Amino acid sequence: METFSWPVLAIFMGTVGIFGILVGKWWQQKRAYRLLATLPSPPKHWLFGNMLQLSAAVNKQQFSQFLFDWAQKLGPIYILWANIPLVIVSKSHVIETILTKEIKEGTVMRSRLMSLGMNDMTGPVIIGQTGTEWKWRRKGWNPQFNSSGITNYANIINQACQHTIKKIQETPEIQTDFVFVELTMRIISCLLFGIPINPNEDSLEGPNLNIEELYKAQSVLSYRVLRIVSGEPVWMKYLPILRTSREYWAARKTIEDFLYPRVDLALKMRDEKRTDLEGASPLFQKSMLVKIAANTPEYTRATLMSEAFLFLLGGTDSTAHSLAFTIGELTLHPEIFQKAREEVDRVWQSQQGITTESLGKLTYLRAIFKETLRLYTIGSGSGYVEVQREFTIDKQTFPPGVQIFWSILSAGRDPDIYPHPDRFLPERWLDENGKEKVSVPTLVFGSGLHRCLGEHLALLEATIMLALLLRYFDWELINGRASLEQWQQTMFIFPADRMPIRFKAREGVLLS
Ligand code: HEM
Repeated sequence: METFSWPVLAIFMGTVGIFGILVGKWWQQKRAYRLLATLPSPPKHWLFGNMLQLSAAVNKQQFSQFLFDWAQKLGPIYILWANIPLVIVSKSHVIETILTKEIKEGTVMRSRLMSLGMNDMTGPVIIGQTGTEWKWRRKGWNPQFNSSGITNYANIINQACQHTIKKIQETPEIQTDFVFVELTMRIISCLLFGIPINPNEDSLEGPNLNIEELYKAQSVLSYRVLRIVSGEPVWMKYLPILRTSREYWAARKTIEDFLYPRVDLALKMRDEKRTDLEGASPLFQKSMLVKIAANTPEYTRATLMSEAFLFLLGGTDSTAHSLAFTIGELTLHPEIFQKAREEVDRVWQSQQGITTESLGKLTYLRAIFKETLRLYTIGSGSGYVEVQREFTIDKQTFPPGVQIFWSILSAGRDPDIYPHPDRFLPERWLDENGKEKVSVPTLVFGSGLHRCLGEHLALLEATIMLALLLRYFDWELINGRASLEQWQQTMFIFPADRMPIRFKAREGVLLS
């Protein structure tokens, strides 16, 4: 008689057990998510669903592009089967309703993974908060970023743009995305921390602005949010054998060394109830950091530092990349370039330059920027949600547990809202008198409670910078159309080749 083998039996039982668990999980998923079964989906692996494609897209830094490409193929709603199913939506009214009505009614909530990622860059930040924790932060920052508050900074912005013009004059062939990163970082650092725009002037309150180093640190921290959203556990940052963990801590140190001296000084001013402390320049005394510290007692040393970082990040990448895409698009449309230049020249001649009064007249320029944001939505999937209670919208029912993502990039190409969606048509944002239309829906600055705080600042920066570029230069794309078609992202989308441009001084116009 054959002997009975325990190890063989254990292996057999183990295999049956694992198989049972997988089948059980599959069955559970099938039942729970049967309402989604009819949605189209990219081809999937029998065991891993779409997880491998998703993580490959994140690793290649092309997550938004991946969602966008599938939306183009599968339509305005499709599903990705990951650990938790992700439904990707790209109809503006559906996204808008979810971000406003459904969030308010509690049928959905902002994604906990996204909040975790945001709050784990350097510490808790407004965009990762909800309820009262979000409310007091937003109340503190709102007055600083409203339209009239921001217009006060037009001179500072103009000064920074003039530096950019000088830089381009000295280096006419240049990767413009980096040039605009420098521009926007200088502006937001001046507004937030009172760091002089002029790179030759020292900052008294802390280390000078080292754009390259800070931008590298920002990119490491913001890309990590994307990885956390796609499933990387936050505790992995404690594994020193991982390159990504070492980069994370180095990036945090760079940011903290830059911010803490300034945060400490702002808090000292708050404690002593005076701004004229030794070591504080007049620019710092008037900075947003000092104001927010004074007006928002809820901020502690650590939370004020992490918030300052978020505003530095939000104020840099977003507008910089959008500007790079804008000047790229302008090269492809000489008639739009010419029309924009005529508007700038007209305003310039009547006001002897770009002034606060003349800015309101540059409506075509603003329309060009908005049209670029529609086609190159740098924050395409921000603010996605988890379903809490079953709800139905546009005849689709969403069961609890599902995550709803969006592709604002695809929503921006919805032919029902934007006729000829693939054409670059700034006119769609203007009425017949050339005035800005308010009726065209757009989600590029988000919607609902977390709608962008920096919208007015971004539009002001873009308008002044574009006006000066059109006034002083002609330009062409060094890599042609490819610069506009190949994107990458950390948190925000940017042109993969950083949009190299060859500038040429405009004939007959002298640089002042
Ligand atoms: C073209 C430029 C910009 C675009 C396209 C953009 C886009 C967005 C979007 C889509 C959101 C919503 C995110 C969500 O719902 O999770 C957002 C939020 C935010 N943006 Fe912007 N942004 C831009 C410029 C700026 C600038 C210049 C700042 C200045 C600091 C800024 C600061 C913020 C902040 C602080 C939030 C979070 C608001 C909150 O959570 O209540 N943004 N932005």
